[in-house]
Amino acid sequence: MSKIRAAITGVAGYVPEDILSNADLEKMVDTSDEWIYTRTGIKERRILRTPGKATSDMGVEVVNLLLKKTKTKPEEIEMLICATVTPDTIFPDTANTILNKSGAKNAFGYDINAACSGFLYALTTGAKFIESGMYKKVIIIGADKMSTIVDYTDRTTCIIFGDGAGGVLLEPSDEGTGVIDSVLKSDGAGREFLHMKAGGSLKPPSEETVSSREHFIYQDGKPVFKAAVTGMVNTVNQVLERNEMTVDQIDWLVPHQANMRIINSVGDMLDIPREKVMVNIEKYGNTTAGTLPLCLWDYETKLKKGDNIMLTAFGGGFTWGSTLLKWHYNSK
Ligand code: UT7
Repeated sequence: MSKIRAAITGVAGYVPEDILSNADLEKMVDTSDEWIYTRTGIKERRILRTPGKATSDMGVEVVNLLLKKTKTKPEEIEMLICATVTPDTIFPDTANTILNKSGAKNAFGYDINAACSGFLYALTTGAKFIESGMYKKVIIIGADKMSTIVDYTDRTTCIIFGDGAGGVLLEPSDEGTGVIDSVLKSDGAGREFLHMKAGGSLKPPSEETVSSREHFIYQDGKPVFKAAVTGMVNTVNQVLERNEMTVDQIDWLVPHQANMRIINSVGDMLDIPREKVMVNIEKYGNTTAGTLPLCLWDYETKLKKGDNIMLTAFGGGFTWGSTLLKWHYNSK
């Protein structure tokens, strides 16, 4: 019997119905479908427009689908981690709200704020609770309602982000399947290139912060682009090296979906054939913590038990990392 690992036993996703297309953005800022598609690979994104609905509501949709797919009762869930940079409120955290709204009465949960790497941070953390034997049913969610912090007057930033959520159920496996290893990194020096200026304890909300549009994402795209490519490639290689694996043993690369040119650069530098790289940026854009589970959800039917899957991400912080997992099941 091999060591207990945390296997993904179900995956689910949720994207809102409303579409924001490149043609829509052409009417809002000085841009074009051609520029957006050739510079980012994005055609459309989803926006949660329903009044009163927040990040937790997308998380609840994901939890409900996960429970249904895996025939799990809400009371059986022991823990839930929600990766997000767009919590419903500064406190309490979104994980608590999701648990409450989904009837998971016996679980505790908390949020992780690691921007686009949030799902990897949360997955790795949740896996440890399974590996230690402490819990047997842990849900990991990546969810962001980016439209609430996107400045729709800033044409370089507003074109990439969208709303969406995805998640997985983790359960113990002694079959060698599950989360194998992660290399996770952070470097706070990168915060100057990607952040929100106001709303926290450094600069609490005021009339001035609102009028100077400081409650939106600030991004200096070029340095982020460069650091993203290097960070993802380096951590994928580190995970491979310390597990004595070569790149041809990867069945699927699941890169954070921020920009198609970043995805292609990472794949090319690693020398991974394009058909092994999961891509859905065209239809959802960059959903921050949602991108990786949304990719797994979209590609679930193609995955086979035993597939080696390498997830990799880079985001605000800077935060970045890569996680290797062995897929646990064949889709029905
Ligand atoms: O997910 C979290 C991490 N984030 C990322 O990984 C994002 C990384 N960065 C990027 O993906 C890219 O930097 C962006 C997509 C954000 C921007 O693309 P870029 O190729 O770096 O464009 P740029 O900002 O250097 O701008 C190039 C030109 C500029 O014009 P000039 O100065 O050359 O005349 C911009 O004004 O393109 C112009 N431009 C646009 N033109 C039409 C910038 N945005 C637009 C636009 N439509 N939306």
